[in-house]
Amino acid sequence: MPNMPIDPNGPPAHTAADATLHITTEDPLTRRALLAGAAVVGGWIAIPTLAAAQETPATSPASPTVTQAAPAAVVAVNAGAVSPDGMYALPPLPYDYADLEPYLDAQTVKLHHDVHHLGYVNGANAALAELARIREAGGDTIRQVRAATDALQFNLSGHLLHTMYWSNMRRNGGGPPDANTAIGRLVQRDFGSYEAFAGQFQAAAAQVQGSGWAILGYETVARRLVVLQVEKQQNSSVWVVPLLGCDVWEHAYYLKYQNRRSDYVRAFMNVVNWDDVDARLRAAEPQR
Ligand SMILES: [Fe+2]
Repeated sequence: MPNMPIDPNGPPAHTAADATLHITTEDPLTRRALLAGAAVVGGWIAIPTLAAAQETPATSPASPTVTQAAPAAVVAVNAGAVSPDGMYALPPLPYDYADLEPYLDAQTVKLHHDVHHLGYVNGANAALAELARIREAGGDTIRQVRAATDALQFNLSGHLLHTMYWSNMRRNGGGPPDANTAIGRLVQRDFGSYEAFAGQFQAAAAQVQGSGWAILGYETVARRLVVLQVEKQQNSSVWVVPLLGCDVWEHAYYLKYQNRRSDYVRAFMNVVNWDDVDARLRAAEPQR
């Protein structure tokens, strides 16, 4: 595993020095890639595909001339979320529909990925195209920017969060993260124990009002982990890099769990892919 020592007995990350993640060049994600990615992932929506979008000509999100890719570390944890032409795309599931059974049933995973997530992908692309049309038209058309911006926020948030959600899970996952990984050390430091984190995370997920997400995020100013509740999916905090997300929209669990959201959240903890969460943390660590 990567050598990323964080003093578990040290104080919370009140200073940059306290929380510095020491990333060695032996890491699978090279230091160069990490530093390149850091400039992009300092914000919520900035992960990961906005990097590619920023390289897209402003008048045509579908331009085939886009060639510059997002930084390697960011691409690695969001593979398939952006097509080579800069359009958003539905990333393939990293496992079969039934692989998360008995915790998540195959029918729910299939509908959730193939229908719901695809809807957000298409919606995000359509919103970008609409915003390009508005800019090009100018004049009074600019009054339409509010609706198009709302559509972009809703659909792009949905696309990026679901991209993370699928890779956050795996068969035979769950349990505490490896204590020798960066995420393992930070969970211990910032929550006291895995059990304390899991209790807080599950309670936050269960208590989201209406549709939304529970998010384990990395706050890049004090450099600490935080658990947040995200109502709907666009009402999020731009100052946190999401690392682990539990989707608590009813489409994520209702076929199997009906109104028992807490049971679904408890089951979700058994499929957490901590290697993916750790990779997202290491991609998010900013250079100071
Ligand atoms: Fe969802």
